[in-house]
Amino acid sequence: MSINKEVKRVTTHTLAKMKEAGEKIGMLTAYDFSFARIIDSAGIDVILVGDSASNVMAGHETTLPITLDQMIYHAQSVIRGAKRCLVVVDLPFGAYQSNSEIALASAIRIMKETGAHAVKLEGGEEVVESVRKIVSAGIPVMGHLGLTPQSIYKFGTYAVRAKEDAEANKLRKDVQLLQEAGCFSIVLEKIPALLAKEVTESLYIPTIGIGAGKYCDGQVLVMHDMLGINTEFKPKFLRQYLNIFEQATTAVQHYISDVRAGNFPNEQEQY
Ligand code: KIV
Repeated sequence: MSINKEVKRVTTHTLAKMKEAGEKIGMLTAYDFSFARIIDSAGIDVILVGDSASNVMAGHETTLPITLDQMIYHAQSVIRGAKRCLVVVDLPFGAYQSNSEIALASAIRIMKETGAHAVKLEGGEEVVESVRKIVSAGIPVMGHLGLTPQSIYKFGTYAVRAKEDAEANKLRKDVQLLQEAGCFSIVLEKIPALLAKEVTESLYIPTIGIGAGKYCDGQVLVMHDMLGINTEFKPKFLRQYLNIFEQATTAVQHYISDVRAGNFPNEQEQY
């Protein structure tokens, strides 16, 4: 008899049931083993290995430079720390836009080389064929609409999307297309709360909002933003739960002054 208690993994079906039951879904990004372990053991439902790694881990201005190999490295690290939650990995810019064959090949690499449970990609009508192809290979796909950071040079700004009728109507159409193509969930980024409410109520799959108001079926934040590791990014939608930048700076300053004063290590800290 095993003394190890089996941990029941969150699956895409769990999320569907949560929507049905009106239970909100919590999702956060993570990019490495240690933070994945903290977030997972705290009880998060979903970890997104976001291509925001390009910003918060690599220091790039946009998500565009990160490669599929780099996403795979981050996802491999996260999966070792995530014992309970569902792990979704972003398909990075350039890994799926050319055609559905390339999209499937990229998704297969992520699933095979990382052990993750699902992939996410940005866009609506333009990526529907790729969603169908990936889903038909047995790989769960999360959609992402509204502000899609991989298209930042097309938008020209990180402002709220779908405020005008034409863009809102396209989003209404896109959520249905993604659902029909087999997406198990859709991220809605930076759109008006009432539009997010309307589309959330129109779907049987759960929506996960970021800057999309309280009516979504779940919420996602970039871990570095909500923990205050990244201090330069303070949009209205962000709630910062900690100020790690400040606390870590103070800790490092104490260490430096201890070393300089000869206070570290002390008698108990040596062999
Ligand atoms: O890459 C990311 O962190 C994301 C979230 C903002 C949803 O896509």
